[in-house]
Amino acid sequence: MSRPTARAVHLVSRPAGAPTAENFAFVEESLPALAAGEVLVENLYQSVDPYMREEMDEGGWELHAPLEGRTLGRVVESRADALPVGAVILHRQAWRTHSVVTAEGAFLLPEFAGVPLSAHLSVLGGTGLSAWVGLTRIARLQPGETLFVSAAAGGVGTAAGQLARLLGAGRIIGSTGTAAKAARLTEHLGFDAAFDYHDGPIADRLREAAPDGLHVYLDNVGGDHLEAAIDVLRDHGRIAWCGAVAQYNRPQDPPPAPRNLFDVVGKSVRLEGFLVRNHIDARPELYDFLVPHLRSGAVVPDETVVDGFDHVVDAFLGMLRGANTGKMLVKIAD
Ligand SMILES: NC(=O)c1ccc[n+]([C@@H]2O[C@H](COP(=O)([O-])OP(=O)(O)OC[C@H]3O[C@@H](n4cnc5c(N)ncnc54)[C@H](OP(=O)(O)O)[C@@H]3O)[C@@H](O)[C@H]2O)c1
Repeated sequence: MSRPTARAVHLVSRPAGAPTAENFAFVEESLPALAAGEVLVENLYQSVDPYMREEMDEGGWELHAPLEGRTLGRVVESRADALPVGAVILHRQAWRTHSVVTAEGAFLLPEFAGVPLSAHLSVLGGTGLSAWVGLTRIARLQPGETLFVSAAAGGVGTAAGQLARLLGAGRIIGSTGTAAKAARLTEHLGFDAAFDYHDGPIADRLREAAPDGLHVYLDNVGGDHLEAAIDVLRDHGRIAWCGAVAQYNRPQDPPPAPRNLFDVVGKSVRLEGFLVRNHIDARPELYDFLVPHLRSGAVVPDETVVDGFDHVVDAFLGMLRGANTGKMLVKIAD
């Protein structure tokens, strides 16, 4: 049988500062014959994520080699009994149109009638799970509490806002990079207040939005956002530290640590970092909680979907610049 050739993207140089399209190259890859336990997958959707910027630095992804990332694909050839032709799986062989995946490296997606497939990379995927774990396991958000989310108009941020509303949060405040994205948070995504972080000192904007202080901060940005949140947190507040997108483009020169870090002691604040990959066991909890809300339409996955594998690099670079609202995805095939 004639085998398809995969189109793929490789990293060909490492960026100094913000990456550009020249750091990547599109290549053709021939696909090997399948070994026992392997499947050939036609990829349908790929996620582009901020952590990938860190992988571009020394010690991360290899140059001129296959890359990785979360991808949804349909099995088109199978030598694994558990993954028949037609099965739709989540795997990590991203940045290519077709992938050879082992059964151990594949997660067979549950079918949730009425829920779009792409949700398995956004609100039901690692992105939504990060928000869920940050709110429920790390910060232990309680009904009525005031929550601040940074990078609020992105994938984790919009999932966090919608989940927090359903969990009974009191006031939900978000920061983002433009006034239009801030307006979208309050008009469509359940936030009570939102601001553009370019509009003056973040702590001032936060105090206006939360005059009684914050109980919980879900930090996606680090740097000046973290410092401002520590200022405005109430005694016994909690910080779930999810990411630090403000520093990924400047590994040699990260933003200074919060100058008020010792206030964590004075206010008895709990600051805890987490990686979602250590909480994969929470996935069934998220499904049980969220799928009924997705089916009823109470939650609509917030996604920016870029069409076509040719645009995967543009989608990644655009996400780092804030071109997305909600989760940035690339649609590779129907
Ligand atoms: N701990 C974990 O296991 C885990 C898992 C998933 C994600 N994360 C982290 O969660 C955060 C959000 O990830 P995501 O996938 O949902 O990405 P995202 O928020 O959808 O996209 C990144 C967003 O970051 C914002 N941004 C870029 N540069 C910034 C800067 N200098 N200061 C403030 N904001 C900036 C941009 O929006 P604006 O227009 O608002 O600037 C952009 O849309 C990232 O830090 C990521 O590393 C952690």
